[in-house]
Amino acid sequence: MNQIIETEDNSHTIFDQKTGEHYHSIHGAIQESTHIFIEAGLKCTKPATQTLNILEIGMGTGLNVLLTLMHSENISKRINYISIELYPIEKEIINQLNYPKLLHKPDLEIGFQNIHNEKWNIPYYLTENIILNKINADFNDLQLTENSFDLVYFDAFSPETQPDLWTDDVFEKLYKSMKNNGLFVTYCAKGIVKRSLKKAGFQIEILAGPKGKRHIIRATKKIEISNCCNHKHE
Ligand SMILES: C[S@@+](CC[C@H](N)C(=O)[O-])C[C@H]1O[C@@H](n2cnc3c(N)ncnc32)[C@H](O)[C@@H]1O
Repeated sequence: MNQIIETEDNSHTIFDQKTGEHYHSIHGAIQESTHIFIEAGLKCTKPATQTLNILEIGMGTGLNVLLTLMHSENISKRINYISIELYPIEKEIINQLNYPKLLHKPDLEIGFQNIHNEKWNIPYYLTENIILNKINADFNDLQLTENSFDLVYFDAFSPETQPDLWTDDVFEKLYKSMKNNGLFVTYCAKGIVKRSLKKAGFQIEILAGPKGKRHIIRATKKIEISNCCNHKHE
């Protein structure tokens, strides 16, 4: 049974009894998600087109979707947001979460309801500019289209709890699914994660973490474009 906990910035998180983990930092769910996924991720993207394609692993409470919706006003791009979740949270828990209230924007109350009330596995317009596709599936069973995503929010449970989601194969699959210059952000900066990301081909940045966490990772897919025009045909 999931249990709602109030974190240090007063925003809720969920304690998952199956894994013994919280969905967010107990030092502040909103401050953590904003720092990692919005400040280090969303606000740093430079997509080549007018559409920003986001992939999230672990939709959980929908907090990252909500924060993306809130900050999308300053981005003036169309957003295609795919969020994958194996275990959707019960409605009665969702209805008690205090995110819209704490974010002090009246529209977000309806936005948060729309994130959770619409059907799974069918893309829909969350707003005029955001198409949300919530996929109820195991990430490991999904095939991803290559060169699709500008931004990946990697928000699975920890490598200790879910080693199957932090493997070389998973990061290679994500690398292939991303566009050149695409960004990957996650809260976990353990050595094993850095090594797997590098092995997949990412360039890694270790950034300062939110309160209660020293570091986070931002990884970029950078393809070297070789200067093929210099090649002489004999
Ligand atoms: C750290 S919590 C997610 C936090 C979430 N982004 C939020 O803001 O609430 C990890 C999430 O990953 C989901 N999950 C676990 N295993 C998964 C899998 N194999 N595929 C997809 N989602 C998974 C969990 O059910 C949980 O909701």
